[in-house]
Amino acid sequence: MIQPCEYVAAIKPYVPGKPLSELERELGIRDSVKLASNENPLGPSPKALEAIKKYLLGEGDLHRYPDGGGYYLKQALCGKFASRGVKISPGELILGNGSNELLDIAVRTYMGPGDEAVMARPSFVVYAMSVQSVGAKAVEIPLTADYRHDLAKMADAVTPKTKMVFVANPNNPTGTTNGKDEFESFMEKIPGGVLVVLDEAYYEYVKDAGYPDTLRYFTAGREVLVLRTFSKAYGLAGLRLGYGIAKSGIITELNKIRAPFNTGTLAQIASQAALEDEEHLSRSLAVNEEGKQYLYRELDAMGVRYVPTETNFIYLPMEIESKEVNDALLRKGVIIRPAGPKEIRVTIGLPEENRRFIDAFRQFLAEHA
Ligand SMILES: Cc1ncc(COP(=O)(O)O)c(C=O)c1O
Repeated sequence: MIQPCEYVAAIKPYVPGKPLSELERELGIRDSVKLASNENPLGPSPKALEAIKKYLLGEGDLHRYPDGGGYYLKQALCGKFASRGVKISPGELILGNGSNELLDIAVRTYMGPGDEAVMARPSFVVYAMSVQSVGAKAVEIPLTADYRHDLAKMADAVTPKTKMVFVANPNNPTGTTNGKDEFESFMEKIPGGVLVVLDEAYYEYVKDAGYPDTLRYFTAGREVLVLRTFSKAYGLAGLRLGYGIAKSGIITELNKIRAPFNTGTLAQIASQAALEDEEHLSRSLAVNEEGKQYLYRELDAMGVRYVPTETNFIYLPMEIESKEVNDALLRKGVIIRPAGPKEIRVTIGLPEENRRFIDAFRQFLAEHA
């Protein structure tokens, strides 16, 4: 049988959170809640849905290829950033089939066999997989004792072989951030010829006043690629649209690797409408904050340790095998995510979903005691 490249064969496949219908079928249960994939529990922006309907009922050209360059969405993004005082031109933007695709495109653009990329561990698992897929090496630096990127050690790990550094800020699965001062010291140490990928998938949720304004480094002409997405706070994970911001020389190279029609028409239309839906965004953030405070209160009352989060999920380092917790919660119809041998990650849901998690978790702990 045909064999993949050795370095592809060595990749451990990504295990996505199970779809609700599959899990319910397998376990013979109903009304389960999915708190596994950090999706927006409120759903998509109504304006995005309206825009899709209008398009479909109007001149809807779904038999045509999409606008591969995403002209209107890029214009809308440039306008949105300009309104916040950040000047970005369309040539400094790239759209992706989720920000995940942009990670892959960046790796394929700048890395090959023998190259190295520095990243944190645990962090978003796709970085290491993507780097391995081109025969390059993932250099993984453990998080600090308080579960944040160890930026000083990550900078020290940069060698002449290093082509990229991945910084998930906030980090998945821990929900932690790195502040502007430590980030500034880190950037001072990164030499030219190394692309710093700033993965800000959860940017909209961050409340910490010390969170770095990474677009400052883009504006200053540094070799950074800032990634954001419509999958999380904007609630469009199913449509797949993420975007990257970098200086035009970088975007030009990335575009050589990008498939010509990588983002679909409906994803572009919906994202443009979602960008204008400030009300849905602020409601999403408010629901998340309320859910977060509820979970903190309940976990505190149960004496359960958790890592304070700047995102829409919470990381719980436990004394129990995560598989055991996961399986027990699954049987109670609550889908969470094992995030390490003894760590779980729970997405913040709607009030009722959060209550379901807390009830199931409390029951599990009582049964386990
Ligand atoms: C840190 C981080 N980066 C990137 C992504 C990818 O998001 P998407 O491809 O949906 O934009 C995720 C998704 O969970 C994530 O957690």
